[in-house]
Amino acid sequence: MQDFIHVKDVASVGEGKLVSVRGWVYRKREIGGKVFIVVRDSTGIVQAVVGKDNGDAFKKAEQLNIESSLVLRGYVKREPRAPGGFEIQVIDIPWSFVGWQFPINEDAAKADSEYLLDMRHLWVRSRRMQSVLKIRDTVFGAIHEWFRGNGYYEVQAPMFITSAVEGGSTLFEVNYFDSKAYLTQSSQFYLEALIFSLEKVYTVAPSFRAEKSRTRRHLTEFWHAEAEVAWAGLEDIFTVTENLISHVVKRVLERNLEELSILGRRTEPLENVKPPFPRVSYDEAIGILNRKGFDLKWGSDIGADEERALTLEFTQPIHLHHFPEQVKAFYHRNDPARPETTLSVDVLAPEGYGEVVGGGERIFDYDELVGKIRRFNLNPDDYQWYLDLRRYGSVPHAGFGLGVDRLVMWICGLDHIRDALPFPRDMRRLKP
Ligand code: 4AD
Ligand code: MG
Repeated sequence: MQDFIHVKDVASVGEGKLVSVRGWVYRKREIGGKVFIVVRDSTGIVQAVVGKDNGDAFKKAEQLNIESSLVLRGYVKREPRAPGGFEIQVIDIPWSFVGWQFPINEDAAKADSEYLLDMRHLWVRSRRMQSVLKIRDTVFGAIHEWFRGNGYYEVQAPMFITSAVEGGSTLFEVNYFDSKAYLTQSSQFYLEALIFSLEKVYTVAPSFRAEKSRTRRHLTEFWHAEAEVAWAGLEDIFTVTENLISHVVKRVLERNLEELSILGRRTEPLENVKPPFPRVSYDEAIGILNRKGFDLKWGSDIGADEERALTLEFTQPIHLHHFPEQVKAFYHRNDPARPETTLSVDVLAPEGYGEVVGGGERIFDYDELVGKIRRFNLNPDDYQWYLDLRRYGSVPHAGFGLGVDRLVMWICGLDHIRDALPFPRDMRRLKP
């Protein structure tokens, strides 16, 4: 069996060594009786050159298209003009699949993002997408690493559910045999049930929202990292989220400097990310925003534009806390010291990105929860098993949900959330 090396290792093998690589044609040009092929694999790109004197390989090389696959063998040679400083002087091409003309060329790549979304199954091969995918891999890995390293059990919740967590307007309805069900908006209620068994739990799973507006930061299917902790309060959520996010960013800086550079991402804003994050109360935020010219009254929600303006005042992510009751879901615990506000927090990513986390303390008293469900014009019958958690051994508890795609979007410095994942789903897009 032939030994293959990855493209990134060609430079370290050393001049004069015979190597075999496998990959895809990234670029190709013919000059002066030679074919220059830039070969791409999962680790990078390397230049290979095939001379006319090498009849059989030359004929094969001439036929290759962009993204044709190939296996080649040749000698490593120092070549300062080649990417990485080395090239492969090809002696043979034991395998090539020429295929059709690749439908994405450089002009298409620049011109039309809708076209690239239609071609996403092929565009995932681009160096940009490849870099995002590698960073995304680090982010998911680091989330699991952090939770597992801090005493959390990983759990799984169902995706088919029967009642809303985050309000009825964004529920996806599905036919479920003879009845109807919904796709989950959040695993929170199930995590709340599981803390009575495991105390500290987390899950990383899809959540679904029938978001009818098309924005830069909303998907209809997104990846949600959620956690719930028994005997915990708002203060604990501040600490957990700032440590978790800082850990993820640190791992990306350790592992993905090359990918960040391919994406043209400045690393300085990421290097600033260290706990503790500044805390800004909703009241203070309204003050800051009013001074910046936003006509915002106490009690109104803080939207994307306001979040953007607010985050530009800080160099770190911020904890925006104590939202008014009416802008947060019914399960949020009201602050006994100021009942018109809730013990809630959103973490806003800097540089204008805004909300990446929502969470806080939950109502743990049965009567208080029933009262608030009614005050929100919801039906307590729809929440019977959730209310049970307040009937048997209820304890103060808190939790949060982190939008992983939004986190990746900010870390990568992307303009649009759909570029933070390989196969995005939004109002108008169900394929590829
Ligand atoms: O703020 P949200 O709606 O909070 C919850 O769902 C809570 N039940 C979570 C919990 O406490 N366990 O959503 C949490 C995060 C948001 O901050 C955002 O980052 C992300 O999920 N998110 C979305 N990401 C992409 N597209 C969407 N449509 C999103 N909706 C929420
Ligand atoms: Mg939210």
